[in-house]
Amino acid sequence: MSSRTPLIAGNWKMHKSGTQAIESAERLKTLVNAASGVDIMIAPTFTALFQVGQVLKGSPIALGAQNMHWEQQGAFTGEISADMLVDAGCSQVIIGHSERRQYFGETDETVNRKIKAALQAKLTPVFCIGETESQRLAGETFSVLDKQVRNGLKNFVFNDLGNLIIAYEPVWAIGTGQTATREQAQEAHENIRSLLETIFNKDLAGSTRILYGGSVKPDNVRALMEMPDVDGALVGGASLDPDTFSKLIFFNEN
Ligand code: 13P
Repeated sequence: MSSRTPLIAGNWKMHKSGTQAIESAERLKTLVNAASGVDIMIAPTFTALFQVGQVLKGSPIALGAQNMHWEQQGAFTGEISADMLVDAGCSQVIIGHSERRQYFGETDETVNRKIKAALQAKLTPVFCIGETESQRLAGETFSVLDKQVRNGLKNFVFNDLGNLIIAYEPVWAIGTGQTATREQAQEAHENIRSLLETIFNKDLAGSTRILYGGSVKPDNVRALMEMPDVDGALVGGASLDPDTFSKLIFFNEN
């Protein structure tokens, strides 16, 4: 494990009504009351953000959103701006998740615009990258990650990116039960970190938290977290049940 404070983040995707989200947040709040040395975030669906934010007040759990638009306001039907997320109580936002790239046409360019807008609004971006199975099989993993990082972080200087969080989520591992081995995760994270050093500098590379995402469960979290460049987890399925998710938060005690 690294010297960076680990972050265990739950991406609830399109799950849970407002009432269910409140219940889960209340239960989680009780379960993780004694957690220390770990940062925690949950990202409910847009319509539950405000209410869940009220529940999380005074708890160590940060509120995140799953997406946002890059403009501050305007005629963009169905979209939500960074300022609106801050207004709802968010301090973090997931950007460029592979499901957004795959089903909703997100590109490296829109991801870059969103990261910029998030930072302007003082939201911490959780910037997602990752290769597909066919890209991995073709030996393209590191060139794909290189391109996603360079394009996603284009035109930033290191001073802009102090709060940046990166999530490495291999697409083939998301929701499949096929977790990357800890060696595969470490290799990718190490690669991303050295790329940050090449593009920016050693300080930024050393301070940026790189989360792993893709079928993280209570029985594999500890092994992943022991790797030197794995600074946390972005969790889908196993974040939905607060009791299961709290086991990930207490990964050291499993
Ligand atoms: P699973 O944990 O369900 O594989 O999802 C990972 C993910 O996409 C988190 O953003």
